[in-house]
Amino acid sequence: DPAPAATLVIFGGAGDLSRRLLTPALVNLTREGLIGEALDLLVVSRGPDEGIQQQLSEHLDLADKATKAAWAKRCKKLSYFQGEFDDPANFEGLAQQLSGNIAFYFATAASFFGPIAQNLAKVGLLTETDGFRRVVVEKPFGHDLPTARALNKTLLGVMEESQIFRIDHFLGKETVQNIMIARFGNAFFEAMWNSRYIDHIQITAAETVDVGTRGAFYDATGALRDMLPNHLFQLLAMVGMEPPNSFDAERVRDEKVKLLQAVRIPTADEAKTDAVRGRYTGGTAGGKKIGAYLKAADVAKGSKTETYAAIRLMVDSWRWAGVPFYLRTGKAMAARDTEIVIQFKPIALALFRNTDISKIPANKLVIQIQPNEGLDLHFVAKTPGPVIDTAPVEMKFRYADSFDLGHRTGYETLLYDVLIGDQSLFQRADQVERGWEIVQPILRQWAKSGSPEDYKAGSQGPAGADELIERDGRRWHPVD
Ligand code: BG6
Repeated sequence: DPAPAATLVIFGGAGDLSRRLLTPALVNLTREGLIGEALDLLVVSRGPDEGIQQQLSEHLDLADKATKAAWAKRCKKLSYFQGEFDDPANFEGLAQQLSGNIAFYFATAASFFGPIAQNLAKVGLLTETDGFRRVVVEKPFGHDLPTARALNKTLLGVMEESQIFRIDHFLGKETVQNIMIARFGNAFFEAMWNSRYIDHIQITAAETVDVGTRGAFYDATGALRDMLPNHLFQLLAMVGMEPPNSFDAERVRDEKVKLLQAVRIPTADEAKTDAVRGRYTGGTAGGKKIGAYLKAADVAKGSKTETYAAIRLMVDSWRWAGVPFYLRTGKAMAARDTEIVIQFKPIALALFRNTDISKIPANKLVIQIQPNEGLDLHFVAKTPGPVIDTAPVEMKFRYADSFDLGHRTGYETLLYDVLIGDQSLFQRADQVERGWEIVQPILRQWAKSGSPEDYKAGSQGPAGADELIERDGRRWHPVD
């Protein structure tokens, strides 16, 4: 059904996120008839309007007729408001102009999230008298546990949890949502989804891109903060959670939080042994020559920021007792590869003559999040011929073979859910805080110790990460 009539107010709406992802997503929703005339778009920006229509269309394929028509519809309902985000006087102006259902999207620097919320509250824009008032908060949600708690406190001081939509764009990816469908829509996966059959789980988000033009933000953030407590923990929660009682947002979110609550917080010693950080040096990744991180624009001299992080986590729940979860992420790596590997235990006994059990690889399920979204099941089959022998084979499902994926940004579902008020794919306060709580000992340890270990751009990451997993007699699934 089309979303209800509303105004989407985007703070920082002339910026990069808006141009690259939000506008294309709104145009796709318009094409699909999920939003129409009834949606007004108001861009709030600090600078003057320098041709907002043109700026927002930068990433649209206007040669495509349907896109062009959808964009024309959006332009009719597009307006611009110039003003500083921390100046209360501007918000009086906004309040005069706005009424009915409103979703406020904070696509600004994180330092403005609190002030915008407080200013909106002051002029009564968060009071739901003549329609819904919702707030969408982009990443980063805090810089560590204390700052995330403080931001939650500020937001919850002026609105209800039911009004807050904390974005984690990984949850907009089709294959991430498919984890729940695979697990709870099929009989065979869930039956084996526990410590009896699973040896360990690997969660990887490898990128070939370097820090690019984001040096200032990234150098103050690092790979762990940028990817672990948010994106990778979403995948961890999806893959590890118990079946919810229903698909209702609160029930799904309860289960995710329960899983994260069961994650053992690393001790100070474990923070030293079970976490590895790396930093890329020059090389070639994704077919591009990449200079060393330390030489990138806006990276501080003597920076200790990591561009790669790998951690080993244990989940103290009935289902996962004794099953390690290895998580890693890095920039400038060998390939773009976001995946979850479910490594099953080996069979108990090799029954086949001539076959040594060590030659029968244990089953493996690879959930490929991107690129080439799909599922791969690795198993063994008999090799043809009179001699009984086995060989590893694969069963592959590729999304693109079964469905038309179109050109989606991942933000379509998320924006639509904001407008219809479905919070399933958004992070609740307790989830965000638990994420930070888990990584806090590692952040503390890294802050007081030396520098990240070097790895060559285009490689599999630092040697220390291999040692981390090989110590347990296991190996990383190659990034390829
Ligand atoms: C963002 C991070 O949240 O996610 C980036 O800030 C990262 O550093 C990006 O590149 C990865 O997202 P995707 O959708 O390209 O996998």
